Amino acid sequence: MFANLEETRHVLVGQSPRTRQVLRLIEKLGKCRWPALLLGETGTGKEVVARAIHNISPSGPFVVVDCSSMVGPLMESELFGHVKGAFTGAATTKIGLIEAANNGTAFLDEIGELPLDLQAKLLRVLQDKEFRPVGSLSSRRSDFRIIAATNRDLAKEVEKGTFRRDLYFRLNVINIRLSALRERKEDIPALIQHFLTQVGGNYTVTAEALEVMLSYDWPGNVRELENCVQHMVAVNSGPLLHVADLPSSLQNHLIQKKSQYLTATAFAGPGPHPGVVDSPESFSPRGAAVPQPVPGVIPLMELERRAILNALEYTRGDRAVAAHLLGIGRTTLYRKLKEYHLAN
Ligand SMILES: Nc1ncnc2c1ncn2[C@@H]1O[C@H](COP(=O)(O)OP(=O)(O)OP(=O)(O)O)[C@@H](O)[C@H]1O
Ligand SMILES: [Mg+2]
Repeated sequence: MFANLEETRHVLVGQSPRTRQVLRLIEKLGKCRWPALLLGETGTGKEVVARAIHNISPSGPFVVVDCSSMVGPLMESELFGHVKGAFTGAATTKIGLIEAANNGTAFLDEIGELPLDLQAKLLRVLQDKEFRPVGSLSSRRSDFRIIAATNRDLAKEVEKGTFRRDLYFRLNVINIRLSALRERKEDIPALIQHFLTQVGGNYTVTAEALEVMLSYDWPGNVRELENCVQHMVAVNSGPLLHVADLPSSLQNHLIQKKSQYLTATAFAGPGPHPGVVDSPESFSPRGAAVPQPVPGVIPLMELERRAILNALEYTRGDRAVAAHLLGIGRTTLYRKLKEYHLAN
């Protein structure tokens, strides 16, 4: 059904224990035709997983039914089709998505959006494999594997009466919960590599940029990471992708992180401060007296270290230009990099 390129676009990437567990479930589910319910925040890969299950032993078509994009009276016709003249504008007979999925897999995305009357009709197809197109007097048959996805709490919707209990039990034979990306950050490097390979070219993300990416929470999950990589490639012709190439959401995150760090170091009392990762002492040049932190005072050597880091970030690691901007000689910059343990 899918061209090779399309198939490779839907490979599930990641080596975290959570992703490996999902891969094992995909493997098992792919060999049978049981229903599956995929749960997870937006962008966590629910559609990728659904396609991967289908592709284990592909038979018939993989049909996506996006319940959130179908609205109003045409929804039933989208799902079950209609006969000619069923309603104004129904000039020809049309096959619905449920019939199109016959012998294959129907992926019902955002199933929580399906209104109660259509939930009842869907249940009937799942139980009896029969449905009636809009305006038709006779039933038609469709036999397919159903994979449903939602980022809503369906059990709660059942309690509220907005989702049918019988349909919920029918769908929830096996559920796969996809973790948010912030809960499986080990997957981030492999995902970055995967998206870089997809765009082609010979790009590498610098260690500094990777560090920022690893410290970010990714509310849009893998989709946001994919967009981020595409943004970096679009603004930089490479091969190195730097902190400066990150999109505004990550730049804002970086600014926030820096200001938290500055506040923490500037107002750290004597002794270790819980919010400070690196204490000012660790930045002291070898042999220099270690200053005692005092609230509101930033040691000069700490200011100097930050100035050097800023200059290097601004020049994307170009030490000659950084030295020029800092108003010091190149040799002095090299010495200071060594002193502050920044040379590598
Ligand atoms: N583990 C993964 N490996 C490779 N690509 C992934 C992975 N997870 C997600 N993606 C990519 O991230 C994007 C979003 O994935 P997908 O559409 O499957 O998310 P979703 O959970 O269905 O999101 P939504 O709830 O918004 O529909 C896609 O481009 C997909 O290819
Ligand atoms: Mg989706």
